[in-house]
Amino acid sequence: MGRGPLRIAATAVLGLSGCVALAACGDGNAVQGNREVAGGEAARGKAILTANTHGCGGCHTIPGIPNAHGTVGPPLHGMALRGYVAGRLPNDPGNLVRWISGPQEIDPRSAMPDTGITTAEAAHVAAYLYTLRDIPK
Ligand code: HEC
Repeated sequence: MGRGPLRIAATAVLGLSGCVALAACGDGNAVQGNREVAGGEAARGKAILTANTHGCGGCHTIPGIPNAHGTVGPPLHGMALRGYVAGRLPNDPGNLVRWISGPQEIDPRSAMPDTGITTAEAAHVAAYLYTLRDIPK
């Protein structure tokens, strides 16, 4: 008794400061941080995803990519707005490229396999994913 409400209040304060730090809560359209991928061209990323050379669309639903309707992994809508990549890394260009090009190096327990995509291709794909700001209502 007594400690419960205190802990809830403390959690609320922590949660709030987390929101402030991310500037993500409350406004779903707030874009945080840098979304410019060095060496990444969105049009080339779209072409890579459309060709589905690395199987991304077999596992992910990706807005704007024909036949990318996979449901193994999370849908990739709104990637420009997200605070984290795969819930593990702060969402910034370097981390998004790292995740796409080598998820198993970040977490070998992840269900996303290394696909063999090159870092250069991953940069193009990341640039395309950062054009996605749609959140289905
Ligand atoms: C075999 C299925 C599979 C393939 C192929 C695959 N992924 Fe994934 N992907 C996943 C799963 C499962 C997750 C969730 C991983 C986790 O949280 O550990 C994921 C997570 C992600 C995330 C993080 C999404 C988020 O909500 O933060 C991105 C971005 C991503 N994948 C992009 C790609 C791209 C680009 C490709 C192609 C190069 C690809 N994936 C290929 C299954 C796959």
